[in-house]
Amino acid sequence: MVKILISGIFGHMGRNVAELVAADKDCELMCGVDLKAGELNGAPVYASFADVKEKADAVIDFSSAANLANVLSYAETFGVPAVLAATGYTEADLKAIDEASKKVAIFKTANLSVGINLLQKLVKEAAAFLGEAFDIEIVEKHHNLKKDAPSGTALMLAESANEAFEGGKNYVYGREGMVGARDKKEIGIHAVRGGTIVGEHEVMFAGEDEIITLSHSARSKKVFAAGAVTAAKFVAGKPAGKYDMHDVIG
Ligand SMILES: NC(=O)c1ccc[n+]([C@@H]2O[C@H](COP(=O)([O-])OP(=O)(O)OC[C@H]3O[C@@H](n4cnc5c(N)ncnc54)[C@H](O)[C@@H]3O)[C@@H](O)[C@H]2O)c1
Repeated sequence: MVKILISGIFGHMGRNVAELVAADKDCELMCGVDLKAGELNGAPVYASFADVKEKADAVIDFSSAANLANVLSYAETFGVPAVLAATGYTEADLKAIDEASKKVAIFKTANLSVGINLLQKLVKEAAAFLGEAFDIEIVEKHHNLKKDAPSGTALMLAESANEAFEGGKNYVYGREGMVGARDKKEIGIHAVRGGTIVGEHEVMFAGEDEIITLSHSARSKKVFAAGAVTAAKFVAGKPAGKYDMHDVIG
């Protein structure tokens, strides 16, 4: 039985994860952490990681990038593997994650859906095949409550495309004004916000007289919650290191 701590448990994703954990015979909710203390599905919810005295088998963090230091401190102190599912990490955050992964297992992905992880592979393959002759533009669409832009997933897809060019592309976020002709080294990334859109990602390869578009559409937040539970079960008991969805789906 994998004992799970959900950070950000009262949020949209946290509640979805708690629901799946409750229905899963292989794991149980040990406790939660959120800004306010309380209770969910019979498990205690603490207002701070400092109040958590129990050792979980895995932490799932769906709170916020701003909570990273607390999540990592708990993971390192108790030797608990962590699934970092929040988005919007800074360069300093990414360094802290790298450092922590030398001491404890860290599973990090901006997108926990199997489909997006396949899309990453396809994007890299398409970019390598099509090369410099095709301009790459990424458009992501999310609900009007999303705080960070562009989405972590859009950046992940840009990285996948950029790998095919050995990191030689520059990211351009939106365009405005007299920006001039498009530079060949650009990957354009655009964020659309509105309504209740769960998550849409489109990677367009525009060439001379032809366009190839690879896209993914998430129809409910459940795909991410299910991925988080799968990731938690995968990473529980794993040695220190960095893991992501590709380690799970091979
Ligand atoms: N990796 C993925 O596949 C994936 C999928 C969906 C969402 N996300 C990310 O997950 C995060 C949460 O998304 P959401 O839609 O559930 O947001 P949300 O705002 O509904 O929930 C966030 C929850 O975390 C709590 N919280 C915020 N800061 C905290 C802190 N410092 N300490 C403790 N609790 C804190 C809030 O009170 C809230 O209950 C976002 O960063 C989002 O981009 C990732």
